[in-house]
Amino acid sequence: MKPDMKVEFAGIELTNPVIAASGTFGYGIEFEEIVSLERIGAFVSKGISLEPMAGHPAPRILQTPAGMLNAIGLQNIGVEEFIEKKLPPLKRYPSCKVIVNVFGYTVSEYKQVVERLNDADGVAAYELNVSCPNVHAGGMAFGSDAGSLEYLVHEVKNVSKRPLVVKLSPNVTSIAAMARVCATAGADAVSLVNTFLAMSIDVETRKPRLTNVTGGLSGPAIKPIALRMVYEAAKAVNIPIVGLGGIVTPEDAVEFMLAGATAVQVGTASYADPRATERLAKGIESWCRSHHVERVASLTGALEVPQK
Ligand SMILES: Cc1cc2nc3c(=O)[nH]c(=O)nc-3n(C[C@H](O)[C@H](O)[C@H](O)COP(=O)(O)O)c2cc1C
Repeated sequence: MKPDMKVEFAGIELTNPVIAASGTFGYGIEFEEIVSLERIGAFVSKGISLEPMAGHPAPRILQTPAGMLNAIGLQNIGVEEFIEKKLPPLKRYPSCKVIVNVFGYTVSEYKQVVERLNDADGVAAYELNVSCPNVHAGGMAFGSDAGSLEYLVHEVKNVSKRPLVVKLSPNVTSIAAMARVCATAGADAVSLVNTFLAMSIDVETRKPRLTNVTGGLSGPAIKPIALRMVYEAAKAVNIPIVGLGGIVTPEDAVEFMLAGATAVQVGTASYADPRATERLAKGIESWCRSHHVERVASLTGALEVPQK
């Protein structure tokens, strides 16, 4: 029997739990020749700001054992061009939901981007990036301070006409406390994790390998920590959790769902295999079939923790 792959969070229904993660899937439409967009649940756009941004100079990406380090610096075309050029062709794939990742230098900028997007068609939800380790904007200034985070989420929620997902930084002492702050301030869901602040040094030149000196670590290297954080956040709040961090195989995705995630995002895996998202959507379905799971949604939070 074909398993029911639908999941629902924050009032959005996805045909399956696989979402392409922000910054690793362009503006979505560039992937139409590579991935059958109708086969993945959703994708999250690159971070979008009020004005276009050039990002950091190269080198800004490097491979690490079991992962990658990036300091892109939130390069993007800005909200106007995104609405005009990138959103319209995505209407060809109505079943693949579009989640727009939003950031700003100030609370007012975050609000202005969301207000501008409110008038655009074809957007299912917003994901607030409060967790980029590479720039001050959209950055840890908001995501690592509970007071600033609460204010930002509250203010953006007040102007948002769409469900609001807040993407948490892992660079905090208590992920549970930050998830609680978001829930209290009105977030409809939280996604976690963004990248871990990290660096790499070339010992021959004695220089940092990234122009920005530090960057964000992603990929399989971070998976066990991301999974622990999803588990802790899921225990702390009642709003849905979108889990990510190093997911490569269907079993990785199932682990995140058992830990409490309603849906999962796939980022760095798309660099090694540009079809990773579609492969995972198919792979999770096969896993459900071989494990007699009738509804993928039944996996969420189904972890069995032995009693001490
Ligand atoms: C090159 C690159 C660019 C990214 N850009 C963004 C971004 O613009 N906004 C954001 O919220 N996260 C961004 N991320 C973080 C990813 O969406 C994701 O949270 C992180 O990489 C962990 O997942 P993964 O291990 O599956 O890649 C970026 C990651 C990479 C590797």
